[in-house]
Amino acid sequence: MKKDRIIVGISGASGAPIAVELLRALRHTELEVHLIVTDGGWRTIAEETQLSREQICALADVVHDNQDVGAPPASGSWKTVGMVVVPCSMKTLAGIHSGYSENLLLRAADVTLKEQRKLLLMPRECPMSAIHLRNQYELSMMGVVIVPPVLSYYNHPDCLEDAAKHLVGKILDQFNIDFDGFKRWGESQ
Ligand SMILES: Cc1cc2nc3c(=O)[nH]c(=O)nc-3n(C[C@H](O)[C@H](O)[C@H](O)COP(=O)(O)O)c2cc1C
Repeated sequence: MKKDRIIVGISGASGAPIAVELLRALRHTELEVHLIVTDGGWRTIAEETQLSREQICALADVVHDNQDVGAPPASGSWKTVGMVVVPCSMKTLAGIHSGYSENLLLRAADVTLKEQRKLLLMPRECPMSAIHLRNQYELSMMGVVIVPPVLSYYNHPDCLEDAAKHLVGKILDQFNIDFDGFKRWGESQ
């Protein structure tokens, strides 16, 4: 039987290590992972991780060229369980908000929205302008799940990797996937 698919978009906001932890976690699931990385995403991956492009690509089942607007994620007839954009830059956020599908990541997000599938964004900027906040608010009103990369302290993270894993747990919860690296409040630590 064919596996369910998920699209993972990485854009050029700070937080590339969170995307790496997400891709690692998804390897332990039944989902087929389709990865799209913007040019900005490749830049932040280079600035913020020790991993090469090849090592990032090896974490996904299929890697799509962001310029290939004819790739499968560009069509609603190609079924997925949804899409996450982690991290989501303010530029990509604006593109999704306005339906401006000038690359495959934006087109895939637009398709996910129009098909009313799960779309989760991890927008990252600090501080945020009224434009950034308006775009998130209006997307949220359309059913998009906004998961900002904010720290939690109740899980007592020892390092940034722990903090990233906690955020991955928050993302995977939205797809009903349990993740070992996620310490839930109220459960034994
Ligand atoms: C190291 C680095 C960190 C950046 N961090 C952010 C960020 O946190 N949020 C953001 O919106 N843009 C950030 N940018 C700027 C975006 O990468 C830039 O606006 C880019 O054009 C976004 O394009 P994309 O959305 O297609 O990836 C950062 C750029 C660099 C080089």
